[in-house]
Amino acid sequence: MNRRISVAIDGPAGAGKSSISKVVAKQLGYLYIDTGAMYRGITWALLDQEIEISDTAAVKAALDHIELQLVPVEDGLRVLVNNRDVSKEIRTQYVTSHVSQVAAQKAVRTKLVEMQRSMASVGGVILDGRDIGSVVLPDAELKVYLTASVETRGHRRWLELKDKEDITLEEVCRTVADRDTMDMERKESPLICVDDAVVVETDHLSIEETVQKLTELIRNAEKGERHG
Ligand code: DC
Repeated sequence: MNRRISVAIDGPAGAGKSSISKVVAKQLGYLYIDTGAMYRGITWALLDQEIEISDTAAVKAALDHIELQLVPVEDGLRVLVNNRDVSKEIRTQYVTSHVSQVAAQKAVRTKLVEMQRSMASVGGVILDGRDIGSVVLPDAELKVYLTASVETRGHRRWLELKDKEDITLEEVCRTVADRDTMDMERKESPLICVDDAVVVETDHLSIEETVQKLTELIRNAEKGERHG
């Protein structure tokens, strides 16, 4: 039987991390942990409680009263905040446009990184995010940096949103580019591509092709093989 490993998938917004990781995890019987959904859950709670998110002391104090749960279900994960299912709410443009500011705060990261490490400790896990290979699981047996151009990523996000929200492609591309800047230039755990990550560019890959590539990388890493 193959060894069950820890897999870190990092990369910018809209690179396909969660769509791909969800499918791969299901196929391999791994647990999938969408860490972006956790930052989104906290952001939703802060906005819902009308906490001023630029006030780091108020955010820190509010964290003690936010109970976050990720519940694996057939088609992915449900995100519960204080027992309320907010899986849909966390994907709105309103939450998206505030989440980078929340994710840049140390107190938020400390709380969530601790939860993520504890969830990952069972092994056989795929975590996706921005700081998984660099901070959360620096010893992960496989690290992947999944990326694509701003145009490709903006277009993908717009396709997901256009029937639900009144938003143009240009607006979505701008949000993607702004989030790249905030995620890559922040002081706390910025998005970086670590030296030991395999870089996978998805501009010209379909979901199926990317799933196949990732599955191959995981199978090889389970056998202890280095990627090449
Ligand atoms: O992957 P996503 O778009 O759902 O992530 C939402 C935000 O959370 C994104 O702007 C960056 C932040 N994030 C982070 O800082 N660290 C992570 N491990 C995951 C997400």
